[in-house]
Amino acid sequence: MEQLRFDGRVAVVTGAGGGLGKAYALLLASRGAKVVVNDLGGGRDGSGKSTFADAVVQEIKSKGGEAVADYNSVVDGQKIIKTAIDNFGRVDIIINNAGILRDKSFPKMSEQDWDLIQAVHVKGAFKTTQAAWEIFRKQKYGRVIMTSSNAGLFGNFGQANYSAAKMGLVGLMNTLAIEGEKYNIKVNTIVPTAASRLTEDILPPEMFQAMKPELIAPVVAYMAHESFPDTGSVVDSTLGFATKTHLVRSEGAVLKKKPADPVTIESVKEAWPQVVNMNNAKHKEKIAEVTVELVQKLQEFEERSKLDSTNEAYWSTY
Ligand code: NAI
Repeated sequence: MEQLRFDGRVAVVTGAGGGLGKAYALLLASRGAKVVVNDLGGGRDGSGKSTFADAVVQEIKSKGGEAVADYNSVVDGQKIIKTAIDNFGRVDIIINNAGILRDKSFPKMSEQDWDLIQAVHVKGAFKTTQAAWEIFRKQKYGRVIMTSSNAGLFGNFGQANYSAAKMGLVGLMNTLAIEGEKYNIKVNTIVPTAASRLTEDILPPEMFQAMKPELIAPVVAYMAHESFPDTGSVVDSTLGFATKTHLVRSEGAVLKKKPADPVTIESVKEAWPQVVNMNNAKHKEKIAEVTVELVQKLQEFEERSKLDSTNEAYWSTY
């Protein structure tokens, strides 16, 4: 296959001073992208500052690539986009990767632990992406990657703040994928699992060695490429494996036996096994499909009811 390249493209990678972001920045630069290596350079909990983005820029330059360091926090995302415009004159790709942890069991979680996590993950992605959105619309091109986590998709003890933020990013992606569609702005989400300072005390040592960020970088780079076909996808990747996750919805049940019947707590209890029966569960691509299906189901219910409103035996099997 022909090599996939990023010549002429400008990529902003947030939190690219180390870990996954560094691997993304190095790979994109090696394929011709000009890269803004953003990193506040703080600790794992978001405190402090340092200049390790410079080392990444040096590494890119030493290999013949183009990059610039940016030390703004993602909560000032407009400054990061300004760095891209000031240095390279355009922006095409945003990888919202910056992240921190403030793990605590829920009763011990302070408001500050909550707010800081929402600020860096959700507000950071909002500010950085919004600052480039008008540029993307005008040039009819943009690629945006959000970074979620299995802690968000499935929950994880001690990570209430982080789980909420990481699932928030999936919601943000869902709507931006719709708003970006007619402007060729594709918005997708990576769910990585990799060795980094965020996972060094979580992953078993053998797994830590194997879970190299470099195995995820090609997945993210493809998601950032102009040929990437999807928008609104949640892609989980680790160890050279990738899979897609999406929500499914059960067929559901009408919560009463006849149209004239009231919905009661008891009728809900009676219908519950069918409400939660996932045997014929389906994914919905668009919010309109959910509404259309609901209207269809209710119409069907009313028609059946008119056909045989007296046949209790029939209704008890419905
Ligand atoms: P990392 O700690 O090596 O990288 C995160 C980078 O973000 C750090 O270099 C940090 O300085 C930077 N950063 C933090 N706050 C910032 C801010 N306000 N502005 C700009 N930069 C900031 O960790 P890792 O593992 O590479 O994480 C990258 C992303 O992947 C994060 O969003 C993380 O939540 C997510 N993730 C990682 C997983 C893993 O297994 N490593 C699992 C699931 C999600």
